[in-house]
Amino acid sequence: MVTIIDTLIPAANITDNQSVAIALDGKDILICKANSEYYAVDNQCTHQRAKLTEGRIRNCFLSCPLHGVRFDLRTGKPMGELTKVPLKTYDISVSDDGNLHIDLD
Ligand code: FES
Repeated sequence: MVTIIDTLIPAANITDNQSVAIALDGKDILICKANSEYYAVDNQCTHQRAKLTEGRIRNCFLSCPLHGVRFDLRTGKPMGELTKVPLKTYDISVSDDGNLHIDLD
């Protein structure tokens, strides 16, 4: 089953290198913008489960604020040795009304 949710978050409200944490359908999701593209990932590091909300975003990479693992926002793949488990990523797009639109499957 495909679960597509239109958020009430206008895409224009998120600027490059910024993130917004939201709860959708029981999931804690972090919406990020990098290089003018939107990304949605689980808001929990795969190393020791830190929230990624305050993580720095640079060039499509999100850094965990706790120990600094960098995750590729395009694939969820981590860099370095602390974890090999990728972040779950979600398809995200901009709806006709300008709000962000996320596919939770
Ligand atoms: S909890 Fe994120 S790098 Fe350790």
